[in-house]
Amino acid sequence: ETGADARETDVLVVGSGIAGCAAALAAARSGANVLVATKATAPEDASTDWAQGGIAVTGEDPETFREDVLDASDGTADPEAVDILVGDARDAVEDVLVDTIGVPFDGAPAGAGLDDYDHGREAAHSERRILHVNASTGGHVLRPFLNHLRDHDGVTFLEDAMALDFLTHEGRVHGVHLLREGSVEPVFAGATVLATGGIGACYGTTTNPDGATGDGVAMAAFAGARIADMQYVQFHPTAYPGDDPFLVSEAVRGEGAVLRNGEGERFMPGVHDDAELAPRDVVARAVKDERDRTGEVRLDVSPVEPDFRTEFPDLAELCDERDVDPEDGIPVAPAEHYLCGGIAVDERGRTTLDRLFAAGECARTGVHGANRLASTSLLEGLVWGLRAGETAADAGADAAERIETQEPLDSDPELPDEFASAKYARLRETMDSAVGVERTHADLEQARSTIRRLKGEVDAYTRTRVSRSLYELRNATVCALLVARAASEAPSAGCHHVVDADAEGSANGGARADD
Ligand code: SIN
Repeated sequence: ETGADARETDVLVVGSGIAGCAAALAAARSGANVLVATKATAPEDASTDWAQGGIAVTGEDPETFREDVLDASDGTADPEAVDILVGDARDAVEDVLVDTIGVPFDGAPAGAGLDDYDHGREAAHSERRILHVNASTGGHVLRPFLNHLRDHDGVTFLEDAMALDFLTHEGRVHGVHLLREGSVEPVFAGATVLATGGIGACYGTTTNPDGATGDGVAMAAFAGARIADMQYVQFHPTAYPGDDPFLVSEAVRGEGAVLRNGEGERFMPGVHDDAELAPRDVVARAVKDERDRTGEVRLDVSPVEPDFRTEFPDLAELCDERDVDPEDGIPVAPAEHYLCGGIAVDERGRTTLDRLFAAGECARTGVHGANRLASTSLLEGLVWGLRAGETAADAGADAAERIETQEPLDSDPELPDEFASAKYARLRETMDSAVGVERTHADLEQARSTIRRLKGEVDAYTRTRVSRSLYELRNATVCALLVARAASEAPSAGCHHVVDADAEGSANGGARADD
C-alpha cells in the first residue's frame, strides 16, 4: 500500500550533519525539492556538532596536503579520491562555509579571505592549514548551516524521523520507510542520500554522540550495497577517560602540549620522529601501551602559549565541569572516534545501488584509507556532500515513483531498557576487548561469533516489532559484525593493528555464509 498522503520528494537526505547539509544545499541549488530526515529531535544533534579541531584547507602548495593525507593513511588512501578532496577544498570552504553561511573562523572577521584566518596545526600535518573556531568548530559550522537551509524554499526538515529500510524495486532505491510519531510511513524519493554518521555506539568509550548507531551502513548492507574497509575504525589518542568521556582535541598537541606517562616521562619522542604529532593510530597505540605499563597518561598542557585556558577556553570549561585541573595534566586514553570505511562510493558519492548516494562518515570514499588525517572529516563531508547532492538532484528530479510497498509492521513501544542495555553491554565489551586499538586473530574470531549470536537474538525481535531503540541496536550490531568480520580477514594496516604472528591475514579468510 502506498497511501495517498505518503510523502514524495526529488531528493531525500537522511542525516543532518555537515554531509547531509551539504547534500541538501547542493541538491536545492540544482532546483530539486529536498527532504532532510533526521532521527534526532533537533537536527543539531549530529556528530558534526561535536567536532572540535577544525577543517583543513589546501594552502599554497596542494601537493603537501596531498602527501600528508596519503602518509597518514599508511599509504593506503586512494590517490584519486585524495586529489578530489585537496582539489575541491578551497572552493567548497570559501563558497559554502565563508560566503554562504558565514562561519566565524578565528583570526579575522567573518567573510574574510581564507588566507586571512588563523591556521591551526594538528598531528601529521606538515604545515598550519586548519581553520577553526576555538576548539569547537563543528557547532559553529553546523548551526549556521542548518539556519541557512531552514530559510531555503527547496528544503524541508523532518525531525524525529528514523529511516528503517529502503523501498526498492528491481535493484533501484525509491526512498525509505520512516518511523515517525509511532508509525511507519513510506517516503518516495527520486534519489536518496545517506549521511548518517558513524558507529560509536558499538564501543564502550567513544567521542561520538549516542545516536551514532551506524544506521546508514547497516541499511545499505542489508540492501546489498558494497561496504568496504570496515576494519579501519579510528581511535582518538586523547579522550578524557571514563563513563563520561570528552575529546581533547589534537589541536592542543598542535600548540605544543606533550604526553607524559604515569612516571611523568614524555614518551612519544622515543616512538616516532614527529613525537606527539605522529599519525593518530601511532599515538593511540603508544598511549594505550603506556597506560598499560605505567597506569596512566596525561596531557601536559603547560607548553601551550600563552596558556591553555586562553587558547582553548571551551576545553578548559569541559575540564572544569569534570573537576579536572588542566595544570595537573589532563588524563587521556584512546576512544573510538571515526569509521574510515563504510558504504563504498565513487567520486560523485554514488553507491553500488541505483539512486542511492552516501557522504560523510557513513561513506567510504577512499580518502582515509587505513587512518584518517586530522581535520579532514568535516572537509570530506562537505566536499562529498556537495558532489552527492548535485548528482542526486540530476538523478532524482521528478523521478520519485510510488512503487508498491510492503505493509509496514506496526510500531511497538520502545524495547525494555534492560533488554537494550544488556545487549549493548555485551556488544561493547566484545568490541572494546577484541576489536580495539590492538587486535589478535583469535580474539577477532571469538568476537565475530559472539556478535553473530547477539545479532541472532536481536533479529528475533525485528521480525515482529518496530521501534527506534530496536532498530538502533540492530544497526549497531550489524556494523559491529561488519567490523569484526572485515578485521578478521584483512592484513594489518593503519588503525587496524593486528599484533599476533598471523598478522598478514587469516589463511581461510573468506566471508562465512552465516555472518
Ligand atoms: C580533534 O580535534 O582532535 C579531532 C579532529 C578530527 O577528528 O579530525
